[in-house]
Amino acid sequence: MERNEKLCALSAPLLAWYDKNKRLLPWRENADPYRVWVSEIMLQQTRVEAAKDHYVRFLRELPSVSALAACPEEKLLKLWEGLGYYSRAKNMQRAAKEIVARGGFPDTAEELEKLPGIGKYTAGAIASIAFGRPSPAVDGNVVRVLSRISGDSEPQEILRGRYFAELTPAYPQGRCGDFTQSLMELGATVCTPASPKCLLCPVCGICETKSDALPAKKQKPARRETEMTVFLFANERGFWLGKRGAGVLAGMAEFYNADGRMNEREATNFLRGAGLTDFSIGKAGGHKHVFTHLVWHMTAYTVRTEENLAALPAFSSLRFYAKKEAEERVSVPSAFRWCFKYL
Ligand code: ADE
Repeated sequence: MERNEKLCALSAPLLAWYDKNKRLLPWRENADPYRVWVSEIMLQQTRVEAAKDHYVRFLRELPSVSALAACPEEKLLKLWEGLGYYSRAKNMQRAAKEIVARGGFPDTAEELEKLPGIGKYTAGAIASIAFGRPSPAVDGNVVRVLSRISGDSEPQEILRGRYFAELTPAYPQGRCGDFTQSLMELGATVCTPASPKCLLCPVCGICETKSDALPAKKQKPARRETEMTVFLFANERGFWLGKRGAGVLAGMAEFYNADGRMNEREATNFLRGAGLTDFSIGKAGGHKHVFTHLVWHMTAYTVRTEENLAALPAFSSLRFYAKKEAEERVSVPSAFRWCFKYL
């Protein structure tokens, strides 16, 4: 069978399989573009199981694109807590403002892609699922499924581009959204990265691979590794947090930290050098936090103090939070959330 024929032969068996086997997921209750959009953004870096509860809570608090556009950033980040990659939430809010200003969602992939944070994948997903257009949405799952079926061994990034172009004619009239989701669903539940369940696969008959031999493995990105020392300034009533500047986790809350790994004596001298006089320091724990291109090796100390840190130039950007206030209002990214067990 030729490649194009093969792709066109997918929709009938895949849709029949999808109708019987699809998981009941909260974003499948209806195909409102706002709901589809939120789910696709959440699912980009987060597993389905982890995203479900966040999704329901997010939709309850912000049920419409205008509610998202008007949400205070602090509340938005709090709703995003635990999902990571907070720029996704900030971009969504920028896009929501544009959508409100233009009077509604664009309904083609091409127009959707002009919005902040919406790339080719998300645009295709919204255009097909919410607007019924034959617009492919090719993510890692779909590359895996199609590379196995077609026996393509080229690097995944090259295949992704090719599948966007080749898949459009394979879309079945009237069921474009279900076709997009059936490809994702097959990748998530049957054509899994390791040990695919080929015996259960509705398109095993036309699959060139029938194993996990494809797609070709991606080269791992080189990660820059850095050491840092974290100071957990706290007393009985609460603790001190700063706000990150530009760069990694820009604008997010953080515990005070400095470059390099300090031992307890060095940490003590560092604090004295910064003008802190009345404090007691204790070793907390260490933690390794892995970002896409970066690894932080973190060593933390608890620093009990009653001093007003904000009066010292080195710590002037810190703010004191009563425990309860911080719990309710501040979103601490997971790179620092492990620190709470030492407070
Ligand atoms: N992964 C990405 N989008 C998805 C969707 N709509 N349903 C299930 N898994 C997904």
